[in-house]
Amino acid sequence: MRTWHVTELGDPPSVIRQVEIPEPVPAEDEALLEVEATGFGFPDYLMAQGLYHDKPELPFAIGGETSARVLRAPSGSGLREGQRVLALAGRKGGTMLTARVAATLDRLLPVPGDMPAEHVAVLFAAYQTSYVGLVRRGRLRAGETVVVHGATGGVGMAAVQIAKALGARVIAVVGGPQKAAVAHELGADVVIDHHAEDFVAVIKELTGGRGVDVVYDPVGGDVFDRSRRIMAVEGRLLIIGFAGGTIPSAPANHVLLKNYDVVGVRMRPFREDAAYRRHVHDTLVGMYQDGAIRPLVTTYAFDDLPEALRLIGERKVLGRVVVRAPEEPTA
Ligand SMILES: NC(=O)c1ccc[n+]([C@@H]2O[C@H](COP(=O)([O-])OP(=O)(O)OC[C@H]3O[C@@H](n4cnc5c(N)ncnc54)[C@H](OP(=O)(O)O)[C@@H]3O)[C@@H](O)[C@H]2O)c1
Repeated sequence: MRTWHVTELGDPPSVIRQVEIPEPVPAEDEALLEVEATGFGFPDYLMAQGLYHDKPELPFAIGGETSARVLRAPSGSGLREGQRVLALAGRKGGTMLTARVAATLDRLLPVPGDMPAEHVAVLFAAYQTSYVGLVRRGRLRAGETVVVHGATGGVGMAAVQIAKALGARVIAVVGGPQKAAVAHELGADVVIDHHAEDFVAVIKELTGGRGVDVVYDPVGGDVFDRSRRIMAVEGRLLIIGFAGGTIPSAPANHVLLKNYDVVGVRMRPFREDAAYRRHVHDTLVGMYQDGAIRPLVTTYAFDDLPEALRLIGERKVLGRVVVRAPEEPTA
């Protein structure tokens, strides 16, 4: 079966190679799955460069979540042949973009039979991160105002939709008119194009100088620094990531004087908590079935993963990248 491996660290589109791997042989506690499509994001791009906090040994696979169909499952597992699932990569990674994979049952989350594969394949990294960030770490309440930076990126588009579904007022910040139009379609109440306007000035005016309750920041650097100036008293500034490439610092005296919280958001401990992960998953599937969230994805064929990675690096992707599994007949 074909898959993609990162064979050396460097420019992501140049350092991934198509390789042949053997058919998986599931262990007693594993299900055999037919892969449909796999989700990718900025963390995969960083990992291929050796710039992510997780640094697997070479060669390694990227793409940590997959839409799949059960081919065979251990008896007593509760899974039936043909059932559709969201499958997560194990703690040590492993390929999720190939024709078939074996996965332990704790890595599988059930999804509705009619949910399109490209929507299933983004339900974890983008949506669970944004839900945990906004709800658990950010304590977001209905009626509050949220600023989402990078609002048409993978985690950003999910944050806009979840915040709206929870009854918040959403101010989306994006770069360029095309992304601004998309942010409106995602449901943002106000959209600021940072190529044309200074988001600090616009938000100060919009809120009468009060500031906002929550800032969702996957960009870091200067965006984080300037976001400190728009925090309301008891606001929460969520550190989601550093897509801009610079890790900022918050001066403690500013945090004290302005009475806001700087809140770290890392999925690892929440991902390892199976009961909580399932609770968030079921909540998100419910929101999906109610029509409150609808993933924005850009889908590529298996052979086009290098091109997809190139566009992530050039910040041209709208939503999250999904790559279809290769078609390979069983031996
Ligand atoms: N905390 C967690 O557990 C967790 C989980 C998943 C992802 N993350 C992190 O969240 C961040 C975003 O991930 P993602 O997959 O959503 O990324 P993405 O789809 O590529 O979106 C990132 C957005 O950031 C903005 N941006 C600003 N400067 C950029 C730059 N120099 N290069 C690229 N984009 C830039 C872009 O928006 P504009 O062009 O509109 O400005 C872009 O749409 C990453 O740092 C990732 O590691 C964290």
